[in-house]
Amino acid sequence: MLALLLLAQLPALAQQAPFEDTLAQRLLACTGCHGKDGRAVGNVYFPRIAGKPAGYLYNQLRNFRDGRRSYHLMTGMVRLLSDDYLREIAQHFSALDLPYPAPAAADLSARAAATAQALVERGDARRQLPACSSCHGTALTGVSPHVPGLLGLPRDYLNAQLGAWKSGQRHAAGPDCMAQVARALTVEEVAAVSAWLAAQPLPADTHAVAASSLPRSASTRPACGSAPELAGAAQ
Ligand code: HEC
Ligand code: HEC
Repeated sequence: MLALLLLAQLPALAQQAPFEDTLAQRLLACTGCHGKDGRAVGNVYFPRIAGKPAGYLYNQLRNFRDGRRSYHLMTGMVRLLSDDYLREIAQHFSALDLPYPAPAAADLSARAAATAQALVERGDARRQLPACSSCHGTALTGVSPHVPGLLGLPRDYLNAQLGAWKSGQRHAAGPDCMAQVARALTVEEVAAVSAWLAAQPLPADTHAVAASSLPRSASTRPACGSAPELAGAAQ
């Protein structure tokens, strides 16, 4: 009798707490760390994902799923998701056009700042090191659709990512140009570049640019397996 009563109530219970596996439901899980609308604020290791180029976000979600990047909580989030689902998630966050926070106060010596600015804007031809801007855009807002911008990110996040490429913990599809760039930099240069980038104000137009607008590079740019659009741009 009791069992029958319970059975009779089951449909009502199911109606009270419907679980729909919708995109919106899944994305709620992301906002705990990446912030409401994917605009991370507060934690120095949680990157903003809102407004980043869609191809870049998609590549990163696949990198976590397939082991080219390792952060177990991220891997757990995307482990069972298909390429199509990841593409949909990437497009959702990429399309969010939201303002950036004010940059961090500059926390580096005048000498370190000069070194960082030279590396970012001119590179170092003696070491065959191209300027960061030759791939990330003159305004450093990224190149559509696979190269991320470098502004509006916390210093510690930047430092950790460049360090992870240096140590072989983070990978992109090969040839992995960022691994080459990071390995060519000293630990001091990585720290200076991260602090300098985090202190730069965002330009009026924060959107990624087209590869055709990239500046010429003093050194030959290495090929990037994750960003085929760079191959066609002026060297
Ligand atoms: C427990 C906290 C947490 C949750 C929940 C989480 N993330 Fe992350 N996410 C991180 C951290 C930390 C990183 C940086 C990891 C690293 O050091 O590489 C990251 C990195 C990323 C990146 C790469 C960003 C970049 O600029 O390279 C993307 C894209 C991303 N997360 C998307 C998502 C999505 C989509 C969800 C929800 C399905 C999600 N995350 C849920 C913490 C989280
Ligand atoms: C040859 C082209 C190239 C050059 C030069 C280059 N980058 Fe990159 N960078 C890329 C590409 C492509 C990616 C995306 C890699 C991926 O898909 O994981 C990237 C990603 C990054 C990221 C990850 C951003 C995030 O949100 O996690 C950082 C940080 C970065 N680059 C910093 C730099 C700095 C600093 C320099 C200069 C010292 C530089 N890059 C020079 C091509 C380049």
